Amino acid sequence: MCDLLDYEFGFGYIWTQIASNIGGILKRIGLLTSGGDSPGMNPTIRAVVHEAVNQEIEVYGFRRGYVGLMDDDHIKMDLRTVGGIIKQGGTILLTARCEEFKSEQGIKAALKTIEKEGIEGLIVIGGGGSLRGGLDLCESGVPVIGIPGSIDNDIYGTDMAIGVDTALNNIIGVVDKIKDTASSHERTFIIEVMGRNSGYLAISSAIATGAEAVIVPEVEYDLEIICQRLKEGYKRGKTNSLVIVAEGADTAYGIARHLKKIGQIETKITVLGHLQRGGSPTCFDRLLGSRLGKEAVEFLLKGESGKMVGTVRRETELTDLRTVTKKKREIDQTYIELAEKLSK
Ligand code: F6P
Repeated sequence: MCDLLDYEFGFGYIWTQIASNIGGILKRIGLLTSGGDSPGMNPTIRAVVHEAVNQEIEVYGFRRGYVGLMDDDHIKMDLRTVGGIIKQGGTILLTARCEEFKSEQGIKAALKTIEKEGIEGLIVIGGGGSLRGGLDLCESGVPVIGIPGSIDNDIYGTDMAIGVDTALNNIIGVVDKIKDTASSHERTFIIEVMGRNSGYLAISSAIATGAEAVIVPEVEYDLEIICQRLKEGYKRGKTNSLVIVAEGADTAYGIARHLKKIGQIETKITVLGHLQRGGSPTCFDRLLGSRLGKEAVEFLLKGESGKMVGTVRRETELTDLRTVTKKKREIDQTYIELAEKLSK
């Protein structure tokens, strides 16, 4: 629990009020989505609003993440405002990456809104940077619960972040189609997927599509070996080859150039880009978002703060935001080995 009576920014009055509410009745909470959008944010927003309405708590939805919190740009949310959104990708609250919020001035502006609007708790849905913002607010005395939302699946404290499953299904849908044309022409494709610092999407989609090679930031790779493997595959009668590369390791164009130089292998390139992040959330992401959204409200009501609600081995788990923002979720070693073993 953060220090709720922190007077650092001169908002002592509101923090005393907030402190007196913790573990008791909340009248009004804030909600925002921040950073890159992820499919499943809308079902999460819906669940927060439904649970808050059940508990007779008002919800102010801040638009464009921390930008809306600094500028006090909010929507009063009720069941009507979340009607029909469970099947929509993106986030109805809009989102943004907000550099200004990282400054003391940004935090002060957000605290001013929180005091003015009588916000007694805040739920932040987003990735690592967004949860870091939540921690900063918590350290200034605001009760905050984070919910992991990012397609990269690099957030510590949860097995799956909201949006990962939909992104993976988007990727394998496209890769399967590419495979049809690749095998008709006996071609090698290099497919670049998202993941700035994490190869989770690349490794998982490589396993799920039967790719011949996968290149991720977490594992050293040798293009000579990859060249050899591709050539041996064709000799054994393969009709196509796929190399999946995570954007954090290299670009598809870079890999293609090297393969041509080292092994005279001609390739075609597909950079999947933002289509990975769009589309209707899968059933898994709807269920995950619904569960975490509801639980986030419950935890705020119980007086929890400065924590992220995630699922570990299918159980709900709260992790301190300090830990979440310090550590990175590593790819399971068994996934790395599986991708290697099944790729020959
Ligand atoms: O944070 C998720 C992510 O999709 C990364 O995989 C990707 O590198 C980045 O966002 C792209 O961000 P933007 O949409 O701001 O270009």
